[in-house]
Amino acid sequence: GMLVLILLLVAYLLGSLSGSLLLGKLRGVDIRQLGSGNAGGTNALRTQGWKFALGTVLVDVGKGALAAWLALRLGGGLAWLPYAAAGAAVLGHVYPVFHGFRGGKGAGTLVGVLLVLWPLAVVVMISAWLLVLVASGYVGLSTILAGAMLVPLALATDAGPERLVFALAIALFLVFTHRSNLARLRAGVEPRFERARLLRR
Ligand code: G3P
Repeated sequence: GMLVLILLLVAYLLGSLSGSLLLGKLRGVDIRQLGSGNAGGTNALRTQGWKFALGTVLVDVGKGALAAWLALRLGGGLAWLPYAAAGAAVLGHVYPVFHGFRGGKGAGTLVGVLLVLWPLAVVVMISAWLLVLVASGYVGLSTILAGAMLVPLALATDAGPERLVFALAIALFLVFTHRSNLARLRAGVEPRFERARLLRR
């Protein structure tokens, strides 16, 4: 009833607190006007350097973890509620009410909710992400493929329906939020991760 609605709303509002956009306000920059235009950790690193990027990732992972943890602790044992709250937090990050509904692509927030709800998935996703990143240099592609790993992982581990539905929905949603990366890949203009340049900042 009311509690479920409140927990979902809180998860969405927490998700709407964008790390890169809030830190950007302190610095007087909006990274949506720079680099790839995305309000996330990767574009924070690309345009602001590693400290700003680390802060961004900590806020985005932390808010996801907090949203999932609240739903888990206060949700009265409803099995699907933490996953619904996780989805609401990711939606908040991508469509943030506090930032004109123009946010990021959801990867950091996803890692946060999964740290609480499905830690094994974080290990699998980060391993896949690093492998694809080292092999290809493309962050967006790495995130899409890491997200896609959730589906076989759910199937292989006999996950309950809540987890399986979440895995499927999130894998598809990440493809959707990374549609600009896919378009750039097809056009041959997606920037590669440039380690040397990024570490110099
Ligand atoms: O999750 C964001 C990352 O996968 C891609 O970011 O800035 O390269 O579009 P960006």
